[in-house]
Amino acid sequence: MSKFEEKRKIEKLKEVIKYHRDLYHTYDKQEISDSALDALKKELVDLEKKYPEFITNDSPTQRVGGEPLKDFKKVNRESAMLSLNDVFSRDDFNDWIKRAESYLNKKIEGYYVELKMDGLAVELIYKKGVLVQGATRGDGKEGEDVTENLKTIESIPLKLKKKVDIVVRGEVFLSKKEFIKINNTQEKLGKKIYANPRNVAAGSVRQLDSKITASRRLSFFAYGMINSLTKNHKEEHKFLKSLGFLVEPNNLEVKNVEDVFKFRDRWEKEREKLNYEVDGVVVRVNDNNLFDKLGVVGKAPRGAVAYKFSPKEAITQVLDVRVQVGRTGVLTPVAVLKPVGLHGVTISHATLHNYDEIKRLGLKIGDTVIISRAGDVIPKIIKVLPEMRSGNEKEFKMPTKCPIGGSMVIKSGALYKCSDVKASLAEFLKHFVSRKTFDIRGLGRKNVVRFLKEGLIKDAADIFLLSKNDMAKLAGFGELSASNIVEEIKEKKEIDLPKFILSLGILHVGEETSYLLSKNIKTKKIMNPVYVMESIVNLSMEDLQSINDIGPVVAESIFEWWRDNNNLDFIKKLDKVGVAVKDVNVASQKLKGKTFVLTGTLSFMSRDEIKDIIRGLGGNLSSVVSSKTDYVVAGESPGSKYNKARDLSVIILNEEEFKKMIL
Ligand code: IVH
Repeated sequence: MSKFEEKRKIEKLKEVIKYHRDLYHTYDKQEISDSALDALKKELVDLEKKYPEFITNDSPTQRVGGEPLKDFKKVNRESAMLSLNDVFSRDDFNDWIKRAESYLNKKIEGYYVELKMDGLAVELIYKKGVLVQGATRGDGKEGEDVTENLKTIESIPLKLKKKVDIVVRGEVFLSKKEFIKINNTQEKLGKKIYANPRNVAAGSVRQLDSKITASRRLSFFAYGMINSLTKNHKEEHKFLKSLGFLVEPNNLEVKNVEDVFKFRDRWEKEREKLNYEVDGVVVRVNDNNLFDKLGVVGKAPRGAVAYKFSPKEAITQVLDVRVQVGRTGVLTPVAVLKPVGLHGVTISHATLHNYDEIKRLGLKIGDTVIISRAGDVIPKIIKVLPEMRSGNEKEFKMPTKCPIGGSMVIKSGALYKCSDVKASLAEFLKHFVSRKTFDIRGLGRKNVVRFLKEGLIKDAADIFLLSKNDMAKLAGFGELSASNIVEEIKEKKEIDLPKFILSLGILHVGEETSYLLSKNIKTKKIMNPVYVMESIVNLSMEDLQSINDIGPVVAESIFEWWRDNNNLDFIKKLDKVGVAVKDVNVASQKLKGKTFVLTGTLSFMSRDEIKDIIRGLGGNLSSVVSSKTDYVVAGESPGSKYNKARDLSVIILNEEEFKKMIL
């Protein structure tokens, strides 16, 4: 993008963020989720970092909260209720510490880590231990007086255990259980369903009728006070407790950054177990003296930061929409995305299911979109942001001709299909019987396509049900060749695991990936296909992306294939017809972790046999020589790989040396 385009993007982002923030802060309404809004903010922050000259005072990165509502009495405060800067990664977090330490010119030792409650910030003023005023944050300086409403919350003490003058700040929230109860009632009454507990909490506190607030069983955790006299934040929490406040019970004093990471990572995983929503952790310099010295920059204190959990949603751009042809000729549009990190994995594709989905979303190529990945499901585009359009977006049209075989594309219900369904199935069948997969050579590519055309088989699993009689019905099929084929099919029902995986024709999954995958799943010596299915379905996207040499595109493709019911039915059918899968049970791991490249004509065995041996002994194969190559096995008239190996000082083995190595 040119600087001019990036400037325009900054403007667009500012507009869109402002619109959603106003909705959220002023009207307690939400059209997009918090993580989507966070993702937009992050994009703006990054662009403003790149072009500080484009930062304006009205940028949403420069201000807190929202405008107060018109209807409540206003509260003006001297000490503004601040906000926290967000960080999303360890690097950002370390940068925050570096900045704070260089500001203090001193190493910081000791942090207080807290769960970041997803509720509504309020301030409570006590005089001689009695609650005299409760207010929302508003824009920080000016909030709304919601005292009467806050008095209905049981965990907000009306009278403290000590007669102190004190200003306490904390979070009002609704437990998950109460939220579900409220929504159940709403549903029964045919009323609107609330999006999340935070919206209900905010809506209930900012009610002009306190009876409504009282009917929602809200809770309150204190997280701090102004003009604290304690030496550190831990003591401050202890003091708040002694006055009768509840504080979040998992908060902790930690010594170093590693412990901060541990706390954050633990709660990112375990947040679902809590009865309230948390969206990150708040990390604060524990020592109050240092915290005060660090002061405030813009809208946030320098001494604390919100280290957010990875969002369940992200913003990215649709670079293209491609069409995939399934085994049965169904066309599936797939969005090619600008790669984006989401919950620890990289997402670069999202299935669009069918053309109706594109219409429903109103999606154009080039659009900015919100993608989501909840738990272990395939990433989805959940919303298009048309406000972010530049005018260069393009309409997507389904092809009129099938990408495989060129037949006409026809519409059947919501689906688009190749009119010659068999063309794509024929391609698949040829692959399924080929030497590198089930290796049913006697059956051959021609026959298998003929069987399909003549209706003897409808899919690849039917091959294993072919009988002599079926074949004998076809013109030109001798009894002998029919019985040879049946014999061979029977023999080939048993297949090595990597070849089995390869046989399935998963997009982007070639020989090497099949092999890598087979090494990374739970196996036993002989498995039925459903066992393999269960082992692979068990792998999360994180697991797949953490397998060395399997990149995000391939991982996504594998993940999706094993979540498509058509494919799972196919595996079940292979199981039913008696296919058995053998583990490449590596008796010896002699070549474990070593990478080999083959070049030239090898005479003592075929290339495929040599490859099988290397893999069988735990080695890997690559087609390019690089500094990561351990050995190049060179036969007669080796190619350029030989020279490359010499240049990089990679060990070159002739056939004799290789034989000795594997014996
Ligand atoms: S400390 C300077 N601690 O997160 C603000 N905030 O943007 C000091 N929040 O407005 C806030 N849990 O509403 C702090 N344990 C916690 C919190 C917490 C939730 C909210 C608070 C604040 C926002 C930060």
